[in-house]
Amino acid sequence: MQYNPYLRFIPTLIFMLLLNWSSAQKTSVQNIDTNIEALMKKMTLDEKIGQLLQVPGDISTGTDVQSDDLLKQVKTGMIGSILSHTNFDNKIKIQRAAMESRLKIPIIFGFDVIHGYKTIFPIPLAQAATWDIDLIERIERIAATEAGADGQNWTFAPMVDISRDPRWGRVMEGAGEDPFLGSQIAAARVRGIQGNDLADKTTLAACVKHFAGYGFTEGGRDYNTVDMSEQRLRNIVLPPFKAAADAGAATFMNAFNTLNGVPASMDKHLVTDILRDEWAWNGLVVSDWNSFGETIIHGAADNEMDAAAKCLNAGSDMDMTATTFRNGLKKALENKRVTQEKIDEAVRRVLRLKFQLGLFDDPFRQLDPTYREATLEKPEYRDLARKAAAESMVLLKNEGGLLPLTPEGPFRRIAIIGPYANSKGHKDYMSFWTLGLGMREYDSTKVVTPADVLKPFLEKQGFEVTVTEICLDATCSERDYSAARTASQQADLVIVCVGEQGFQCGESRSVASLELNNDQENIARYLYPRKPVVLVMFNSRPMVFPKAYEKASAVLLAWQPGFETGNALNDVLSGKVNPSGKLPMTFPRNEGQIPIYYNHLNTGRPQQDQGQMWTSGYLDSPVSPAFPFGYGMSYTNFSYSEITLNKSKIRPGETLEVSVTVTNTGEVAGSEVVQLYIQDLSADIARPVKELKGFEKISLEKGAQKRVTFKITDKDLAYWNNELQYKADPGFFKVYVGGDSRYVKSNSFELQAQ
Ligand code: BGC
Repeated sequence: MQYNPYLRFIPTLIFMLLLNWSSAQKTSVQNIDTNIEALMKKMTLDEKIGQLLQVPGDISTGTDVQSDDLLKQVKTGMIGSILSHTNFDNKIKIQRAAMESRLKIPIIFGFDVIHGYKTIFPIPLAQAATWDIDLIERIERIAATEAGADGQNWTFAPMVDISRDPRWGRVMEGAGEDPFLGSQIAAARVRGIQGNDLADKTTLAACVKHFAGYGFTEGGRDYNTVDMSEQRLRNIVLPPFKAAADAGAATFMNAFNTLNGVPASMDKHLVTDILRDEWAWNGLVVSDWNSFGETIIHGAADNEMDAAAKCLNAGSDMDMTATTFRNGLKKALENKRVTQEKIDEAVRRVLRLKFQLGLFDDPFRQLDPTYREATLEKPEYRDLARKAAAESMVLLKNEGGLLPLTPEGPFRRIAIIGPYANSKGHKDYMSFWTLGLGMREYDSTKVVTPADVLKPFLEKQGFEVTVTEICLDATCSERDYSAARTASQQADLVIVCVGEQGFQCGESRSVASLELNNDQENIARYLYPRKPVVLVMFNSRPMVFPKAYEKASAVLLAWQPGFETGNALNDVLSGKVNPSGKLPMTFPRNEGQIPIYYNHLNTGRPQQDQGQMWTSGYLDSPVSPAFPFGYGMSYTNFSYSEITLNKSKIRPGETLEVSVTVTNTGEVAGSEVVQLYIQDLSADIARPVKELKGFEKISLEKGAQKRVTFKITDKDLAYWNNELQYKADPGFFKVYVGGDSRYVKSNSFELQAQ
């Protein structure tokens, strides 16, 4: 072939054409409003209502092949969104059907991406135990990238519900009990999910849930009543929602519960007064699963028309499961219960989201099989899953420095025992969410169990290792402990893996007892009476296990760590990773103490010692928890200097600097979460004994020290009072710094009036 000098310009030409094409394709933000209005003019009432309907996909309907009926509805523009749909090819078919509709409005696919999508990370509560905000953001980046590559556009996450009740099964899905930590994590999750540009292939729209109060459900029973003062709502429950809104979260979800008697989906005060007006947030609000329809069961709406009118008028926009709006909204308009304007407002919000996601520019942007193939389950995602799982583990006990297990130690023969020692299959090390939703197509080899890794690793180091499972399933007619007993008798040290399985946590999985079920406490306690025991807990919530704790020499909370369970556990037990996890929720001694949380009020009669009469306590239990908020040990020790302040008084606008020097006084390098708490000693109303207001995770080599300085202004001291003013009261404050919420150094300062 003859050389043609002009050929070399062809790549540049193609590149420029592509560039031009893509910028011409992309709807600029300024154009979105114009485009929305142009579309709105063309839409019929039915098409408008269609945009407000979200229908269940293959997970919920149980079928992988979309029915003709669904495709017909999509083609006629009667559906705005589909949730929980996994089949990739069918998503393409559905989107094609939408492109055949009169106005070609794309479908938006929503999915619960709770702790990873294809690559499964530790449960959110475990992630919170890392106190590593950057890590959490990176996890969400990966989760969103994978979900996006699989054709999802929108995730029903983050769940930012604060909860003080471990009986509630959904505590696993949140960040625990603290509004400050919860707010940092909520914002990080939104940043991770949404990235810098919603229209990017690797991002999803976030959905902050459940608005609001859901975590305060009475008795810890899911979906139950919530009743609380507006002051508590604003000081404790709302901060993470606000942080997520400020981080740019595109959507919010209603909650199932009533709040002070009003079902949250029709709570105008919540959805319009606070979220939309006060916070000036104008995203899309979707109901929870049929929560519009449930307003009728709550007894707060007469029928679907009434429910549709009340929910829309409250400021909610889209009906998840679709029946209430489908059956009731048109009637509500005909009966003048809602205005056309109000419907249009909601429709505009749906369209805006679709424009922001770039779906109008390219409805198939996240439905590209080649990109999907190249993007899912990359090895580096698993590296982060392993790091996160190891970082989330919390060391609760380590008598005589039993851990880490090193070849130099006195033990040669190790028995790994228990129902979670080598649990293959899908039921363990992950939550209901992954098991029920994304995990259908997984084979068990994706999950690395403790035995998978510990056995070969320890054997290579010269240990003799046996693995004995104990079946807990309903299928095992008679539980056989004999093999476990023999193995433990022949060992010098026993690693006992106990806990909860995935289907014991998550939605609708509340419990009345927090104890280890199916005899597991006894497994740890009786089978190994003369051997040192390392107790490894796979838990999704704070649990009560006093006897097993007592018997064990070392206790490690592993949570539900996800795919990399075995590797992460091995990293910690071997000392490759020095544990640094800190509890994001208080662990009670018994269920009778619930609700138990560190940021409680002092009462007029605080109890010092159990049995002290006429004080606020129990006759039969201490008031103190088993393990306080913020607690977690390390293989090394950290010492804290006294707190120094740069001044003893501040005025509004001035900055107080609170400094401590933290020293690693142990034998190995380690990381510590340095925590700052304040206490308002003389406010206008009673304020918590401690409130987290800052933290910094630091790493220190053996013998090293670091000066840590926190900055406080009057803004950090402000709170909502009963007149619903957000302000700081002049007066005296205490400031505490330490490695958990109980053992801390303290100092005090004064906030002066302006
Ligand atoms: C849950 C939501 C979830 C939705 C869709 C509901 O039952 O409460 O958190 O996003 O289902 O799966």
